[in-house]
Amino acid sequence: MAKPKIVCVVGTRPDAIKTAPVVLELRKYARDVECVLVATGQHREMLVQALRSFGLEADRDLNIMAHGQTLADVTSRAVVGLDGVYQELQPDLVLAQGDTTTTFCAALAAFYRQTSFGHIEAGLRTDTVWNPFPEEFNRRAVGLVARLHFAPTRLAAENLEREGSTKDVYVTGNTGIDAVRMVAEQAPQTWFPSEERRIILLTTHRRENWGEPQRHIAEAVREVVDTDKGTVLVVPMHRNPTVREALRAILDGHPRVHLIEPPDYPEFVKLMERSSLILTDSGGVQEEAPAFGKPVLVLRTTTERPEGIEAGNAVLVGTERQTIVDEAIRLLSDPSAYQRMATARSPYGDGRAAQRIRHVVLSHFDIESPPEPMWT
Ligand code: UD1
Ligand code: UDP
Repeated sequence: MAKPKIVCVVGTRPDAIKTAPVVLELRKYARDVECVLVATGQHREMLVQALRSFGLEADRDLNIMAHGQTLADVTSRAVVGLDGVYQELQPDLVLAQGDTTTTFCAALAAFYRQTSFGHIEAGLRTDTVWNPFPEEFNRRAVGLVARLHFAPTRLAAENLEREGSTKDVYVTGNTGIDAVRMVAEQAPQTWFPSEERRIILLTTHRRENWGEPQRHIAEAVREVVDTDKGTVLVVPMHRNPTVREALRAILDGHPRVHLIEPPDYPEFVKLMERSSLILTDSGGVQEEAPAFGKPVLVLRTTTERPEGIEAGNAVLVGTERQTIVDEAIRLLSDPSAYQRMATARSPYGDGRAAQRIRHVVLSHFDIESPPEPMWT
């Protein structure tokens, strides 16, 4: 029998980071399965940069990114492009992670060809399809057509069970925790080594925060560094020009604000470790920060990742200026409140998600491989 062919599809920075551990794990079993890495190129520099951190390069790249791309642009180009790739490669299984438009398109194109699809990071949900936009729609739609659901947590598996998926749901932990552990030891600490003040780290890019919410976020963090002179603010700017302009308009030129290019993944991980407080609307950062015991203020009105909040590492602060300022200042000035949030916990995984996924995927093709007890 020919070796099963597995196509892993990535398009954005988090796709690359969270899929890389699975690709690397499957490639250890190259005698049994073939694993082809396909990129839509929804992101360009940030995708290549993230793959490089794992020594990976796409085997095929549709290179679709354009500045000012709309959701419809990305969707139409990715579905048509991926359909051509599936036609050529004839995969036995397609894998993709999370809720990006690339992942939605990878699943839709597989559905049209009646090809099995495995969803990594399945089952995250908020209570409205409009938020996060369009990610909540993307992941619900992917869940409808997935044959294998790799839920990162028990809660995510329960979401899928409530929707009627009781078969082929596996609780694996999040592959993002595999990724962060893989690189945590890798990079030297080169970020702001002589900086004695406390570092506040900000990342923001979400579509639903564009415009006024992002302005409020930028004004809030400016007020925080102005109030607490013992802090500096570091802002790795997403490459989206809309996001950059909004941040620059309010934060550029401040003597204790560093607006920087997005660091490579290992360096970014070191920067998280070096920070005292993290403010973010990123999904991946919300998952990684608790592993280092870093308090996180989540700059969103709703989150599909309540585990960090329940564990006590994260607070959902929304995007109102005063709320963000109050919460940040409270944590920076109250050591016991800070300490309660600063315990390292890992509600999102133990670093072995890719091994669990590999075992399920190989079993799907009746291939034996070392089992890995499910994550609880
Ligand atoms: C996408 C995902 C979002 C994810 C985020 C991670 C969708 C709908 N959104 O949002 O879920 O959280 O990625 O970062 O899938 N750009 C570059 N170079 C790059 C990357 C982006 O110049 O390497 C610029 C381009 O102008 C591009 C724009 O950013 O048009 C927006 O990219 P897009 O993928 O449409 O949306 P994101 O906001 O990045
Ligand atoms: N990240 C990075 N460099 C940066 C900012 C983030 O490598 O400058 C990593 C981060 O550690 C996480 C991932 O990128 O693993 C999150 O990507 P992003 O915030 O763009 O997307 P989201 O997780 O919100 O979908």
